[in-house]
Amino acid sequence: MADSIRTVGVLTSGGDAPGMNAAIRASVRECINRGLRVKGIQRGYSGLLNEEIIDMDKHSVSDIIQRGGTILGTARCEEMRTEEGVLEAAEICRRHEIDGLIVIGGDGSYRGALELSRKGINAIGIPGTIDLDIACSDYTIGFDTAINTAMQAIDKVRDTSSSHERCSIIEVMGRNAGYIALWCGIANGAEDILLPEKYDYDEQKIVDNIINNRKHGKRHHIIINAEGIGHSTSMARRIEAATGIETRATILGYMQRGGSPSCKDRFYGSIMGSRAAQIMAEGKQNRVVALQKGEIVDIDIEEALQMQKSIPEYQYEISIALSRY
Ligand code: F6P
Repeated sequence: MADSIRTVGVLTSGGDAPGMNAAIRASVRECINRGLRVKGIQRGYSGLLNEEIIDMDKHSVSDIIQRGGTILGTARCEEMRTEEGVLEAAEICRRHEIDGLIVIGGDGSYRGALELSRKGINAIGIPGTIDLDIACSDYTIGFDTAINTAMQAIDKVRDTSSSHERCSIIEVMGRNAGYIALWCGIANGAEDILLPEKYDYDEQKIVDNIINNRKHGKRHHIIINAEGIGHSTSMARRIEAATGIETRATILGYMQRGGSPSCKDRFYGSIMGSRAAQIMAEGKQNRVVALQKGEIVDIDIEEALQMQKSIPEYQYEISIALSRY
């Protein structure tokens, strides 16, 4: 089986994440070390469908490990959700002699990889998303940089919040998952942390918490709100009306996806990228690289997509216990 892979395509797909460049670099270099040719596919699956395919060598990935974003570019691609799109993508891979694809991205990107593998193109996934919401892996490349970026921004909002004795609702990314909100909520010492997985939409509890904290002399009140709950601006208006305390909403947005990757994201990008190339060279089929209990493992893509993960209960309980005055 190992003999059937000669040329590997590498692409990044979905939302970009700091550390993707480290994963590209490692995938390219390790494939070449193992005697495989590498082609870079620009702009994710959309670029594949448009045949935006370039030859890559070891030099093409020099000087990128420290850079945010992805040098290959990325996109979300609706066409890959259709049978025609997948057939066309597989045909293009064959035309360019690409026998295997390393896909760096989130769950949506894995779905595309799974469909391509069903059409005979081997695909290996690497978890790359700031959201940490890939069930099969304890870590996703980009999360560490994103939470540190968000944490620093939240500290800044807190300074001005305290000066003005305001309440601040700060919305962080994460799609439907609350990991960024949970980590920042704990790390920033937030007074309320709203997670899509847990929030009961009882605003009165928040209002009571704000009033109670104010009675105890707290000058600020930080609410970390996850994107999956959203509506921070209208929430701020309602909370201000109910408490009589000036309340502002800050939506951190795309700044959380940018910036030079942290050491952890460069490290896991490198380790996971190398592992993906290694298992591709060994001829393993349709796998996803993952971190599980401190070990780098690889599992079947279909199995990976069926897995579920949730916010660790003890972390959630700690976040509640520490936020109460
Ligand atoms: O998956 C990463 C992420 O930043 C999510 O947190 C967010 O919901 C989404 O991407 C935004 O996607 P887009 O770049 O398509 O607006």
